[in-house]
Amino acid sequence: MAYRLPPLPYAYDALEPYIDAQTMHLHHDKHHQAYIDNLNAALKDYPQFDNLTIEELLRHIDDVPERIRTVVRNQGGGHANHQLFWKILRRNDGARPTGDLAAAIEDNFGSFEQFQATFEETGLKHFGSGWVFLVVDPASGKLQVFSRPNQDSVLLEHKAALLANDIWEHAYYLKYQNRRADYLRAWWNIVDWDVVARRLEGIRAGKSQL
Ligand SMILES: [Fe+2]
Repeated sequence: MAYRLPPLPYAYDALEPYIDAQTMHLHHDKHHQAYIDNLNAALKDYPQFDNLTIEELLRHIDDVPERIRTVVRNQGGGHANHQLFWKILRRNDGARPTGDLAAAIEDNFGSFEQFQATFEETGLKHFGSGWVFLVVDPASGKLQVFSRPNQDSVLLEHKAALLANDIWEHAYYLKYQNRRADYLRAWWNIVDWDVVARRLEGIRAGKSQL
């Protein structure tokens, strides 16, 4: 069964003024769709992967034939990363993490502000296209911030993402042009901390997350 583009879970202008509606149209309808189309095309002659979720496919990337492995890693990663990205966004009116999520952030980074600074700096220093992630390390249970290039998913390294910010220029260039730092700062206004908190809860309960 071919992968399909999930509809955006809110209106295209729901993240204004932080992300503009035109960017959302292009980003969701064109860019995300293209990753899915390219992934489906690559898998067309490999029905053995038909019933895998994108998460399962990326976690088992070593089982994908070498001939299509790089395409699956890039296009499948593009699908997984964007699917996650839409889910964790919502205008938050200045809300901050609460409860266990707030405690985990403070334990791992000292304070919410220090976590934000680390996340922004990681995004700013990343050269070229890629993503910034907040993940739970499966071995230690600790939270980690790092960037990965291109469309590499943290599923490839068997980690579970709480947050992911797209730092490809297609995510911000129409509105922010070369000002990636402004985009990274503004992005805090559209993180849905309730969703992130539920993701942490699910990961700690041993449930699979995408
Ligand atoms: Fe993107």
